[in-house]
Amino acid sequence: MNSYKIAVIAGDGIGPEVLAEGIKVLKAIEELDGNIHFEFTHFPWGCQYYLKHGKMMDDDGLEKLKAYDAIYLGAVGFPGVPDHISLWDLLLKIRKGFDQYVNLRPVQLLEGAPCPLKDVKREDINMIVIRENSEGEYAGAGDWLFKGKPEEVVLQTGVFSRKGTERIIRYAFELARKEKKTLTSISKGNALNYSMVFWDEVFVEVGKQYPDVQTYSYLVDAAAMFFVKQPQRFQIVVTSNLFGDILTDLGAAIAGGMGLAAGANINPERKYPSMFEPVHGSAPDIAGKAIANPLAAIWSVSQLLDFFGHSTWGKEVLNAIESVLVEAKNLTPDMGGKAKTSAVGDAVVAVLSKKSRVKEISPD
Ligand code: NAD
Ligand code: IPM
Ligand code: MN
Repeated sequence: MNSYKIAVIAGDGIGPEVLAEGIKVLKAIEELDGNIHFEFTHFPWGCQYYLKHGKMMDDDGLEKLKAYDAIYLGAVGFPGVPDHISLWDLLLKIRKGFDQYVNLRPVQLLEGAPCPLKDVKREDINMIVIRENSEGEYAGAGDWLFKGKPEEVVLQTGVFSRKGTERIIRYAFELARKEKKTLTSISKGNALNYSMVFWDEVFVEVGKQYPDVQTYSYLVDAAAMFFVKQPQRFQIVVTSNLFGDILTDLGAAIAGGMGLAAGANINPERKYPSMFEPVHGSAPDIAGKAIANPLAAIWSVSQLLDFFGHSTWGKEVLNAIESVLVEAKNLTPDMGGKAKTSAVGDAVVAVLSKKSRVKEISPD
């Protein structure tokens, strides 16, 4: 029996609504497989918790989370608590505290997913964005001088260490080599004359050890343009923390919307638990209406299954998402449907169960 302890941090807004569906899918897999077991422990951390207790998570929160095989997170941040507090004291604290330096975000257009671009084929949008997830523009370093005075100056410092830059770029090369795909580095060396010049140099240096990998290098502004005009240019993409944040919302927009964008925060050394979460936030504008699209949260479950080596199930979940999109009967309003969040989760489970029964009759 493969047993996994999952820490669930549903968080704020639509976080709990979409995670319930991801958990539903994991429980269905547990039942269908018979040899996989998930044990879920819910942590009530988030903005409500902050308003009650004056903190986003327990003081020994990271210590508590260390005992788990993975973390499944919904969304953090809600009006009423300043975003820089809620995010730095929970989401970013976990990403950094557990050295989850690889943020894997697929930008892949599934069949049946709405795409706002003209003349785009499904295979034209099929990339994996590897976002540096531990430092860079998110180093949290800076200063606020002469507050309120006419000479007020605010500094926000990006930190690009040799170790941090090399390891993310190397991870990207390894993946590109394994998948026989091209690798594109996205940076901004023309304007950011320290950090991004360094990034570009490291990309070239590390690349020398991967002569089999075809590489490209883009400035981030041009890359944003090509994401829209010719997304087929990109396969594996490696980029900094902030650029990766922005480009993956753009990626979501071209590949079906925020409701379909998934992400994994990985600590490749497996010294600490990795964390799986949708790319989207707490969506205060639709929270509590039971209309949030859970497919991103369910896609993150597919990434979690891949991470644990259950890649057949990971693929099955992705295929089931695609079937639900193609069938178009159980989709939320952001996908042009009328279904409630839970109906989408039920539909994914129904596809998985049906396929599984067919397999029992004629095993492949
Ligand atoms: P958001 O991603 O929450 O929402 C942007 C838009 O996309 C909204 O119109 C929303 O309704 C829509 N949307 C998002 N997810 C959806 C889904 N699953 N189904 C249907 N529609 C969906 O971004 P925002 O409004 O800029 O941020 C809201 C809060 O969430 C802020 O506090 C922000 O800091 C936080 N946030 C958290 C995370 C995270 O926890 N990983 C990510 C992004 C934003
Ligand atoms: C994301 C989010 C976070 C980020 C915020 C909420 C801090 O936008 O996961 O994409 O910028 O990483
Ligand atoms: Mn973001």
